[in-house]
Amino acid sequence: MDESSATRDKMYQAYLEFFEVAERKRRWNIFDDIPWNKLDPALNSELKATRIETYCAEEFYLPDYTGGGVQLSRQIFGAAWFQACWSYEESKHGLVFREYLTRSGMRSASQFAQFEDAVFASKWKLPFTTRRQMACYGALQEAATFLAYKAQKDRAIREGDKVLEAIFTFVSRDEAAHAGFYRAMARIELEADRVGTIADLAFVVARFQMPGEGLIPRYQERLRESGAGISARNFVEHALFPTLKMLGTTRAELKTASLPPLQTITESLLAPEK
Ligand SMILES: [Fe+2]
Ligand SMILES: [Fe+2]
Repeated sequence: MDESSATRDKMYQAYLEFFEVAERKRRWNIFDDIPWNKLDPALNSELKATRIETYCAEEFYLPDYTGGGVQLSRQIFGAAWFQACWSYEESKHGLVFREYLTRSGMRSASQFAQFEDAVFASKWKLPFTTRRQMACYGALQEAATFLAYKAQKDRAIREGDKVLEAIFTFVSRDEAAHAGFYRAMARIELEADRVGTIADLAFVVARFQMPGEGLIPRYQERLRESGAGISARNFVEHALFPTLKMLGTTRAELKTASLPPLQTITESLLAPEK
């Protein structure tokens, strides 16, 4: 895709704004900001371990996400530098979940070695082929991930789990910021080519799946049984619709690009909420 200099400038500005907020307000530190001394074995449970392990597995495909993202964005400074910063931020998510599972004693080092082997045996592939489609996908996927982690933060507060509360506070805030950046990118694409971007957005919405789908063994069952998933309704109301609103578009406009009925979208989505 050949980008105009106006589009490149907008992407640069969007990245600069993202990075400034990240550096000034959002940075957190695994070693100092998580109250590890508050780990309480009485709060351990196999369901909780499965929940965190499922998120951990999804975050563990980072090398594949990074490889795919950089490959699509390397010709545009703002987009490529975002990928680099995004990778650093995401790397902390898999790491903090891993540390939580092992420091709490819910998983041993040898269990983790097996887990790593199982995860890395499959490879995530880009679900869409252009940077514009991946911006649409990123806006939705990061928003869905934010919703899942925010629900886990609320749950940790209810259960009095101070460590998980801190972890999900930081990771959910990162995911919200990622969703915001991808929305900004999709908006820039819309300004450059409204018809083409709406068609891409409709295409992506109709095929949306979380990255763990088809990769993590028993993904849907794990989400359902452990309470790690979010409902399709939650996704539509709190990720899809706000994204459309922020992009300045509507379901009606997406239908002009042959968006399938919403039921088709929600059926292929996420596990019901627990
Ligand atoms: Fe993440
Ligand atoms: Fe993210």
